[in-house]
Amino acid sequence: MTILGIESSCDECAVAIVADGRRLIGQVVATQIEYHRPYSGVVPEIASRKHTEWIESVYRRCLDESGVRQNELDGIAVTCRPGLVGSLLVGVSFAKALAYALDLPLIGVDHILAHLYAPHLEHELEYPFLGVLLSGGHTLIARVGGYDDVEVVGATIDDAVGEAFDKIAGYFELGYPGGVEIDKRARRGDPRAYRFPAPRLHKGDHPFDVSYSGLKTAVVNQREQFRDASCDASIENICASFERAAVDMLVSRVAKAAERYGLQTVVAGGGVAANTYFREALAHDTGLKVVLPSLGLCTDNGAMVAALGYEHLSRGRCSGLDLDVSARTPGYRRAYP
Ligand code: KG4
Ligand code: ZN
Repeated sequence: MTILGIESSCDECAVAIVADGRRLIGQVVATQIEYHRPYSGVVPEIASRKHTEWIESVYRRCLDESGVRQNELDGIAVTCRPGLVGSLLVGVSFAKALAYALDLPLIGVDHILAHLYAPHLEHELEYPFLGVLLSGGHTLIARVGGYDDVEVVGATIDDAVGEAFDKIAGYFELGYPGGVEIDKRARRGDPRAYRFPAPRLHKGDHPFDVSYSGLKTAVVNQREQFRDASCDASIENICASFERAAVDMLVSRVAKAAERYGLQTVVAGGGVAANTYFREALAHDTGLKVVLPSLGLCTDNGAMVAALGYEHLSRGRCSGLDLDVSARTPGYRRAYP
């Protein structure tokens, strides 16, 4: 079964073709980074406009480069939630038009479930495992029991971890995307130069929750020292110390959650899962079997959408042409979806 996957929930305009949910035949990811760089973050209006301009040519290029003809497709999968509504609408409208014109089933796919499914494209994975999704919009730890059986056991109570990287990088004018810039500088810095406070969770917060807004403020408050430019206060040391605090908080929650739910394998996804220190710490500090998708499958892509679409379609689960988009997945906190 050959499924086309369309991803447009944020700032990547991506289309991929996957056979039988496992074999990636081809993919195109058109990134809008240069258009959002001046704003140090994704501007929703710019994102949806660029998707509108690009989506058809990204689709055509994907077919050309894959050598697949339209009449060889068996279904059209598309991200319909959660994400930026304007951006989601472009992908979903395009997918509906394709499904209608080619008389193919349409499959609406949840972006978070797709990220947690992405590792199947490269690894033999057995359920259940602990899934960790770390991106610019999402920070969650989940018990994953199947392709549509995801129970969120911990999440950020304020900023997403990628958002914290991007905001701090924006504050120090390091460039965009901030995570990549901080990662580069942190490699040259001393992660023990600063002790940033661990976040305090409140009564009622879940023990596996994380928080980034206090850490962000603490880091920004180093600015005055940074201005003095003594070698201890170098931007490299601030980046390394922030990165350590941000990652250690997550990794300690992951280890505890795995123990609590009796899971031996952890699977990570999302742009922040590309972070060098995170990848090392997860492997060294948890004692768990760690599965990390390659970088192109960590960040937003159409392949994960097509692969998850296959799971739905092979069980006869498809959407109508009235498929709607949603900024959020309702009620994801305890049980997902
Ligand atoms: O999953 P993604 O491509 O897009 C969504 O947010 O959905 O994640 C993007 C996020 C950005 O916040 C970016 O700064 C962060 O991932 N990121 C990183 C690294 N590469 C990308 N954060 C830390 N270290 C990295 N190497
Ligand atoms: Zn994503």
